[in-house]
Amino acid sequence: MSRGEMLYEGKGKQVFATDDPDTLVLAFKDTATAFDGTKTSELAGKGRINNRINDHLMGRLADRGIPVHHLRRLSETESEVRRLDMLPVEAVVRNVVAGSLARRLGMAEGTVLDRPVFEFFYKSDELGDPLINRFHILAFGWATEAEVARMEELSFRVNDVLYALFEAGGMRLVDYKLEFGRFHDELVLGDEFTPDGCRLWDLETGEKLDKDRFRRDLGDVLEGYREIGRRLGVEL
Ligand code: TMP
Ligand code: ASP
Repeated sequence: MSRGEMLYEGKGKQVFATDDPDTLVLAFKDTATAFDGTKTSELAGKGRINNRINDHLMGRLADRGIPVHHLRRLSETESEVRRLDMLPVEAVVRNVVAGSLARRLGMAEGTVLDRPVFEFFYKSDELGDPLINRFHILAFGWATEAEVARMEELSFRVNDVLYALFEAGGMRLVDYKLEFGRFHDELVLGDEFTPDGCRLWDLETGEKLDKDRFRRDLGDVLEGYREIGRRLGVEL
């Protein structure tokens, strides 16, 4: 599998073509960004840690029958994935109130929700990823009704698998963001699952182990990521 031209560079990853039109290479960057790219920093080693955590978690999701784009880890910072036609939306699942939900509805951060909340956001840095609902998605043709239903179903199945997995490692999965795309006719989980796109709190102490350490200047960011990896049993 040889890595070809760079097709796209995002805030946290680069995407490369390969000689197979159905396969891409993702390269996880050391750059940390928050608040739609307005805060950035280089964290040497983040790409390697995220690549390993993502490989582990995508593997567990695939084991449980969730269609994922991830195929295998190729190198310290690269993974091979299916080439998806990405939908321009983000799917967020929340088990505990935090972040923008706390701000939007004036709820105390840390309130455990009686049942998980599902939200869609429109992927646009310029607009600050605004909250949308399924009617916007259908009206603007960003996905079909069947795809909207499938995103909801798969997002909750991810929650079932990962909530238990993190809990077994003494962590609470507070919330997370997923992105989906089309592989031929199938809707598939794309992007990544790493501490950059979820909130994980220590079950006992409530200590934040995820990217909120970077967003809120709470201390050594990579030490939190390494702790997540260790607790998942990921070789780092
Ligand atoms: P929020 O509280 O900022 O809406 O974020 C909810 C969760 O989703 C949190 O774990 C961070 C993640 N997220 C991203 O990683 N990128 C995004 O663009 C959005 C909207 C959320
Ligand atoms: N809202 C996400 C974050 O704070 C992504 C972003 O702001 O670019 O990480």
